[in-house]
Amino acid sequence: MSAPASPSDSAFLRAARGERPDHTPVWFMRQAGRSLPEYRKVREGVGMLESCMDPELVVEITMQPVRRYGVDAAIFFSDIVLPLKAAGVDLDIKPGVGPVVASPVRTMADVEAIPELEPVHVPFITEAVRGLVGELGGTPLIGFAGAPFTVASYLVEGGPSKEHAATKAMMFGAPDVFEALLAKIARTAATYLEVQVAAGASAVQLFDSWAGALTPQDYRTHVQPHSAAVLSRAASLGVPRIHFGVGTANLLTDMGEAGADVVGVDWRTPLDRALPLVGDRAVQGNLDPTLVFAPTEVLTARAAEVIEAGRGAKGHIFNLGHGVIPSTDPDQLARLTEFVQSYELAG
Ligand code: CP3
Repeated sequence: MSAPASPSDSAFLRAARGERPDHTPVWFMRQAGRSLPEYRKVREGVGMLESCMDPELVVEITMQPVRRYGVDAAIFFSDIVLPLKAAGVDLDIKPGVGPVVASPVRTMADVEAIPELEPVHVPFITEAVRGLVGELGGTPLIGFAGAPFTVASYLVEGGPSKEHAATKAMMFGAPDVFEALLAKIARTAATYLEVQVAAGASAVQLFDSWAGALTPQDYRTHVQPHSAAVLSRAASLGVPRIHFGVGTANLLTDMGEAGADVVGVDWRTPLDRALPLVGDRAVQGNLDPTLVFAPTEVLTARAAEVIEAGRGAKGHIFNLGHGVIPSTDPDQLARLTEFVQSYELAG
């Protein structure tokens, strides 16, 4: 697919604004990363956080899937815990594990000890975004941040968690500490997004990957106000805001109302069921990421169903329902990209 003249004319931004582009735009969460041999090669011997702080490497890794697939958007290569690391929190990203925090956050004193992120902590982000915008031309760059609940889970649990038990125990048992923690993460996330957009990012995505662990009532009471604070600061930047979570069938309305222009839907909720829940907003998603392991004709038949369901939306950005699984064959994603971009939208 030939690149658009400028990001604002791109199919991605047009769909995000609720206009009708000439084809359904497509990109993939985690499109950069271990599924690509060229990624594994440039990451050899370089730690994850180290690579996120190296503008040249960030530009190269972000560009890799754009070059390979011709996707309709790039996503900035970074991680949801990077801004905390940059602000001075002692954490690492362990290969095959994920973010690991040296001293888990449990008390008000622990929350107060987390430094506030300031733009001066992340000059390498500005440099990387500027470099990317130059290389990308008309292809838009999506900036992103982790949402307060999902980032809090890593800080409170000390690492990845299935149940988020310590995090939710804090939410139920020490709501003042939980509130202070989420408010601080929200400020960090908003600052991080502001830096990316100031340097040239065309859209932002707030990842609340683990919000699906919450009941709607707990989400609304304890979490939504903080995500809304991030999205409201992002609103003044004038770029579309995508809000995504996993297992959020019960939360889609609340996630939209938190202030999203586009609601990301995971693969468990068919788009036709999601549409009435998100209201007058565009949607992003939502092919099951394991379909790449099926024969190509099964993959594309299911992609066609997603595109058809997306026709009823205010706008539709095609994506997987969660990130690319590392063992994915890049050739399947290339075939999927080409299928989505050439799918006949007329009529
Ligand atoms: O291409 C892209 O989508 C941009 C890059 C990106 C990364 N992390 C790079 C990364 C994005 C958008 C993220 C966000 C992120 N990080 C989320 C939200 C999205 C989601 O998947 O739900 C979450 C929950 C994290 C926390 C995190 N960081 C996890 C769970 C892991 C994986 C652990 C593992 O190794 O399996 C990481 C590490 C990470 N972040 C990798 C990448 C490419 C793998 C590290 C490596 O390549 O060595």
